[in-house]
Amino acid sequence: MLEVEQKVIDELRQGEAYEGIQGEGLHAEKRFYIESYGCQMNFSDSEIIASILQTSGFGSTRNVDQADLILLNTCSIREKAEQTIRKRLTEFKKIKKQNPGLLIGILGCMAERLKSKLLEEEKLVDIVVGPDAYRTLPGLIEEAETGTKAVNVLLSREETYADISPVRINSNGINAFVSIMRGCNNMCAFCVVPFTRGRERSRDNISIINECKDLFQRGFKEVTLLGQNVDSYYWVDPITNHAVDFAMLLEQVALISPNMRVRFSTSHPKDITEKVLQTMKSYHNICKYIHLPVQSGSTRILQLMNRTYTREWYLAKVKRIKEIMPDCAISSDIIAGFCTEDDQDHLDTLDVMRISMYEYSYMFAYSERPGTLAAKRYKDDVPEEVKKKRLEEIVSLQNKLSFESNLKDIGKKVEVLIEGDSKKSNLQWMGRNSQYKVVVFDKSDSSLQPGDYAWVEVTDCTQGTLLGKLVS
Ligand code: SAH
Ligand code: SF4
Ligand code: F3S
Repeated sequence: MLEVEQKVIDELRQGEAYEGIQGEGLHAEKRFYIESYGCQMNFSDSEIIASILQTSGFGSTRNVDQADLILLNTCSIREKAEQTIRKRLTEFKKIKKQNPGLLIGILGCMAERLKSKLLEEEKLVDIVVGPDAYRTLPGLIEEAETGTKAVNVLLSREETYADISPVRINSNGINAFVSIMRGCNNMCAFCVVPFTRGRERSRDNISIINECKDLFQRGFKEVTLLGQNVDSYYWVDPITNHAVDFAMLLEQVALISPNMRVRFSTSHPKDITEKVLQTMKSYHNICKYIHLPVQSGSTRILQLMNRTYTREWYLAKVKRIKEIMPDCAISSDIIAGFCTEDDQDHLDTLDVMRISMYEYSYMFAYSERPGTLAAKRYKDDVPEEVKKKRLEEIVSLQNKLSFESNLKDIGKKVEVLIEGDSKKSNLQWMGRNSQYKVVVFDKSDSSLQPGDYAWVEVTDCTQGTLLGKLVS
């Protein structure tokens, strides 16, 4: 179970607040503290929120005891995610009891899912703001300062925060996430995201390119283009009527500089196109790594999940990716114990994992979410202990596959973007190769530093890491 816990914690990892400059104006004396949960999109939103608050004069703090305003950017994807946040909220409420002037705001997906119900359930919360209403945050804070509870959970069909320049929170100055679209139009039966993030909309390509160029000029070496379903990115310029699809956007970002890597996440298997694969192949700096969540290996379950592809269709996609880019790594999301899943369905999932030879997977036990299609239509009928046992089997198979994939790399020379010291020793660098694998090697060349590329020969590996030595 350890591995599952670790992956889940990784996904729910806490975003500390950052120390920013103190602004001017109405809130010049005030400081906010923000903590983020959930997916990368949420972390990216916190950077937009920080920017909005800074512009309205707020300063920031990493120390919750110094804050005038505590913000929690929340996730609803599984019940456990919400429980984690409620627990954290209990701690903040204790601080508020000692400091009644302190404001507490709940942002993000849980705010959107529960709306003003959150204020009834959590009496000490002052502000509730959904993912499309962050521009109104300064006004809502003013309202809350007068003692009125403030809520804005309106979803929008247009909001992309395109013009807001995110403040990079806890950045290593090397990798940055760039949001290219918001919302999701798919209706996977298990998923709460379409309800918490609203309709899909793409951000204009020029603002994306400008943000990426600016990052590169500031020394960043890797951008990850983010969306719930990046392959359905589509922007039509209102003046020229010129349309940009995801493959074109990817190419435009790749052309900024061969020294800046480009990644993207997430791809829905039904939407990733041949054109995207060919574009990936054409550019060295587009990383050879695709996150292609399968969710289940059983066609019957996939249909119930409303994923719109079959097991065979998915496997054909994997095969095509490997034909075009034999070195492309593929990772997946897998749900164990979806409604009606039987032993054979589970074996089908294990089988798809083996055939796809995933480099990594994010693995979850099914958690029913109120309001979703599955909650309305099906019974959550797989007993918890069965879900847990299946999940353990999935995790242990993935561990084996990750190790096997790493073993195959021994002897290869890989290009690594150095991110910093390795976890275990400051005499070693840690970085990633194009396939997103962690590579650790001795600092034998003193001229290298984080943000540099290095060629490393892989000499050994563990399940999670490639170990190697620098080659000239
Ligand atoms: N848009 C992305 C992922 C969104 S959520 C995509 O389509 O891949 C990330 C993952 O959480 C999903 O891929 C799914 O595996 C998992 N997930 C979503 N809802 C879940 C639920 N109700 N129970 C368990 N896992 C869930
Ligand atoms: Fe959820 Fe499916 Fe949309 Fe992903 S594609 S966010 S799993 S509805
Ligand atoms: Fe969670 Fe919302 Fe992301 S539900 S996974 S924070 S889109």
